[in-house]
Amino acid sequence: MTDTPQYVLLDVQNGIAVLTLNRPKAYNALKIDLLKELDALLDRLEADAGVRVLIITGSGEKAFAAGADIKEFSDFSPAEAEQMARFGQSLFSRIETFPKPVIAAVNGFALGGGCELAMACHFRTASENARFGQPEIGLGLIPGYGGTQRLPRLIGRGRAMEMLMTGEPIDAQTALQWGLVNHVFPQEELLPRTRAIAEKLARYSSLPLHKIIRTVADGADDLERGLTAEAARFAECFATEDFREGVSAFLERRKPDFKDR
Ligand code: CAA
Repeated sequence: MTDTPQYVLLDVQNGIAVLTLNRPKAYNALKIDLLKELDALLDRLEADAGVRVLIITGSGEKAFAAGADIKEFSDFSPAEAEQMARFGQSLFSRIETFPKPVIAAVNGFALGGGCELAMACHFRTASENARFGQPEIGLGLIPGYGGTQRLPRLIGRGRAMEMLMTGEPIDAQTALQWGLVNHVFPQEELLPRTRAIAEKLARYSSLPLHKIIRTVADGADDLERGLTAEAARFAECFATEDFREGVSAFLERRKPDFKDR
């Protein structure tokens, strides 16, 4: 991997980082070097206090990402395949618990690893032409970047089972109806409208945003663990300047000025 990212473009404006998967001729297929670049960019964005919210999207109007790069893994041994899955899973888990909000703006096909990447983000918006699917079954394969786990958690087991077993993609409206995406926008409005959501998040204190991300993750499979974490972090908020500021601003009928303290 080179120091200058080749497969992922980064644009930061007003605290919003837009990461664009950039292999449009290959429908932004997630070759391993692309995922390594994404991981390295996350290091930078995590350390940069000026960056408050991340948006992940794909270049072009066809694809967010059409999956792992089939040409790249076609001759992998089982051991190499397991290493590939473990790396992708750990990267996507990193995104799921990233300390700043991460929104997927799905601008076309989100298939296989592309769907799995979108599902690891904190929430998703989509263009009208977006298509979501786990077509691995057609390759004699199963998902390897978390699809068998995150899809049933997001849309329910029966719908996930059908998608995983048939390999058939769903369109943006179905994804909306099933709760896989929160909003569907015309293609040209996808980034501006997603950016508007990101700008709203960027104005909040990063302290409770980070606590929401961690606490939702802590309770995803264990309600009692989640409730214990919630009570502890709820209490932690009371020791912050931003909580004092938020409550004072409400009582004084003015906009809060959060300082991340
Ligand atoms: N890997 C590598 N290249 C891919 C790719 C992928 N996942 N998806 C698309 N491409 C490439 C095609 O090979 C083609 O390149 P060439 O012009 O050099 O041949 C280019 O992108 C455009 O693709 P098509 O010509 O196929 O475009 P289309 O409009 O006819 O079809 C599509 C689009 C339905 C997305 C089709 O490309 C497709 O089915 N892609 C594969 C989807 C898939 O199976 N994804 C799962 C991958 S496995 C995985 O992700 C495992 C995991 O969980 C980690």
